[in-house]
Amino acid sequence: AATTAGTPKGIPFQPISPSDKDELVLPKGFTYDVVAAWGDDIGNGEKFGFNCDLTVYFPINGSSEHGLLWVNHEYTGDGKIFLYPENTPEAEKHKIEQYNLGGSVIEIKKEKGKWVLDKKSKYARRITANTPMDLTGPARGDKAVGGVAEVEGTYANCSGGRTKWDTVLTCEENFEEDAKRWGRNLTHYGWVVEVDPFDPKSKPKKHTALGRFSHENAAMTLSKDNRLVVYMGDDKADEHFYKFVSKGKYDPAKGKGNSKLLEEGTLYAANLEEGKWLPLDLEKSPKLKEKFSTQGEVLVNAREAAKLLGATPLDRPEDVEVNPVDGCPYLALTNNVARGNYYGQILRFIEDGKDAASETFSFDVFAVGGPKSGFACPDNICFDKKGNLWLFCDMSSDKLNQEGPYETFKNNGAFFIPTQGPNKGDAFQFASGPVQCEMTGPWFTPDEKTLFIAVQHPGEETTDLNNPTSRWPYGDTPKPAVVAVRGF
Ligand code: FEO
Ligand code: CA
Ligand code: CA
Ligand code: CA
Repeated sequence: AATTAGTPKGIPFQPISPSDKDELVLPKGFTYDVVAAWGDDIGNGEKFGFNCDLTVYFPINGSSEHGLLWVNHEYTGDGKIFLYPENTPEAEKHKIEQYNLGGSVIEIKKEKGKWVLDKKSKYARRITANTPMDLTGPARGDKAVGGVAEVEGTYANCSGGRTKWDTVLTCEENFEEDAKRWGRNLTHYGWVVEVDPFDPKSKPKKHTALGRFSHENAAMTLSKDNRLVVYMGDDKADEHFYKFVSKGKYDPAKGKGNSKLLEEGTLYAANLEEGKWLPLDLEKSPKLKEKFSTQGEVLVNAREAAKLLGATPLDRPEDVEVNPVDGCPYLALTNNVARGNYYGQILRFIEDGKDAASETFSFDVFAVGGPKSGFACPDNICFDKKGNLWLFCDMSSDKLNQEGPYETFKNNGAFFIPTQGPNKGDAFQFASGPVQCEMTGPWFTPDEKTLFIAVQHPGEETTDLNNPTSRWPYGDTPKPAVVAVRGF
């Protein structure tokens, strides 16, 4: 478990202790640059959105010191106090919220050793809850989505992933509340959205073949016969773990043409008791045929279809990522308070035949949250090239540093967990975030000299703007911001 007595063998930093400081605390020798904060001009007159989440770094000319960064802007939630005064007319409030959500493309580079945003970028772009986008796949034009092929915008963008052809998959998670407030059609949200950051004029695509639910993320890998496999969590209590397997095969020579593969394939939900991937396929299932008339309708109602087939309810499946060393997907179950699971755990899945397209699997419990392990509520994860897991925790900000199950953990932190060797499964604390924030979006540059972290909702519980609960990063009003951590 966590220790501060020097640097344990095989751990690439001297672990820190839990902290309640209003700072981004890092181990000795590490530092960070604020790359972009909420409201910053990103270079084309547009502003960086609110509550940053997923970050994906796209090298320019293979560089680890110059590239594009995609950033999700997830939700306004309790942060509305920062967005507008309470007496703002309702329609104006909606406009401000819609502009502040979605995603940003920014160009960044290292100058004199520090990461900075390039305001002259030709790639700078905001995608908002108003940007037109196409539906692809079986639900496009289906009566289950109101017969449309195009929808308005994306928002509730939580985590996501990177494709093998330099585009981002950004995932729509908790869309319901805003859809209702804004009067939007619920079936137009809850999808995985593909954006090409290198083409500022490209129209984003919502790939309905990957199903509709509270998408946390999308982790792409290949099957043994080179079909695309995308692992996905559905972050809600008692929901499921999914994967999509494309019909066609990935061909590197086709570049961005491989995007078509995300339009046709099979969506599966996991049954952990039997170790089976259940295909949500109308043609293969009399049970689904009784209830649904088109495959589009099945995908729009993926949760209901998964339940009909016997998918296992899980304790809020958050991020899932594939370990590059053992090839296994690791899934963070964050918590399920109603079931008495306060601290969560991380599961490791082993596909039969070590084939990501397998229809059967086994799993084990890789790490368990709690006072003993030193972390609670695992959320975002990423792997380095050696297969070490980097874990970012998300205890609810109203429960932080208060009497109760989360008291001893202090602010939300980040942890390093080896997946092999003598410290396998042990958590070593790498970072502690400012007050009431959650650190999200971890992403390494290819040389692993920089780790991007999105510091989301510092000071989230603020009720008086003159007396905010956090003043990070600039000492005044708290601002969600993406930082580049250096020192590796
Ligand atoms: Fe938006 Fe599941 O975290
Ligand atoms: Ca998350
Ligand atoms: Ca979470
Ligand atoms: Ca959050």
